[in-house]
Amino acid sequence: MSQRLDKFIASQGTLSRSDATRLVRRGRVTVNGAVCRDAAFKIEEADVVVAVDGTPIVYQKFVYLMMNKPAGILCVSRDPKVKTVVDLLPPEQQRKGLFPAGRLDKDTVGLVILTDDGDFAHRMLAPKKAVAKCYHVRLDGPLSDEDVAAFREGIVLADGTLCRPASLKILEDGNEPLAEVVITEGRYHQIKRMFGVRDRGVNWLKRVSIGRLQLDTRLKEGESRYLTADELSKLFV
Ligand code: URA
Repeated sequence: MSQRLDKFIASQGTLSRSDATRLVRRGRVTVNGAVCRDAAFKIEEADVVVAVDGTPIVYQKFVYLMMNKPAGILCVSRDPKVKTVVDLLPPEQQRKGLFPAGRLDKDTVGLVILTDDGDFAHRMLAPKKAVAKCYHVRLDGPLSDEDVAAFREGIVLADGTLCRPASLKILEDGNEPLAEVVITEGRYHQIKRMFGVRDRGVNWLKRVSIGRLQLDTRLKEGESRYLTADELSKLFV
């Protein structure tokens, strides 16, 4: 699809259209190696190499990132007061329109997908797709086989909402057990509320996978990286 040079540059990063126009007029942009000062110049993004100050722009229609979210960070695009997952992205991963596809609470850590592809996020989050989300959770009191059975049957939340059957596995027993929970929906504070009706509080919560996509254990908290095409396809199964 052909589009204006300034629009193309703005779409691939964080520059506004007018900033992109200014760069072009100042002669800082080349198209196939030749300086182009015409911001309205029409390009076929797949067929040309556009460079800004000599650095080529690698065209990506949409981007998909995985982040290992730390605690204390809001899982939204922007907030006037608190740091968000988008604020944590390094400059080279910044791009207009990025948002987290699915939310984690401020104190929850682990796997978050960030994208600017609204259709993709919609498909990933659609309740009827029932994409499995796996969490590790540290609780404030012991778990029993009855808890496991209650999760399997479908927890009824305090407000009467019936949750889909979920898997609860005890990974470490004791007074502060570690458990693995897999849910196929994404209600507000769902895991905390599910344990709440079992009289247990959540001391720590981490999302470790979505579909078959595991959080990359090499990512330190706060770090992010692009997903590969293969990893993207793992999100839906
Ligand atoms: N369930 C919760 O309670 N919190 C999260 O952040 C995710 C799932």
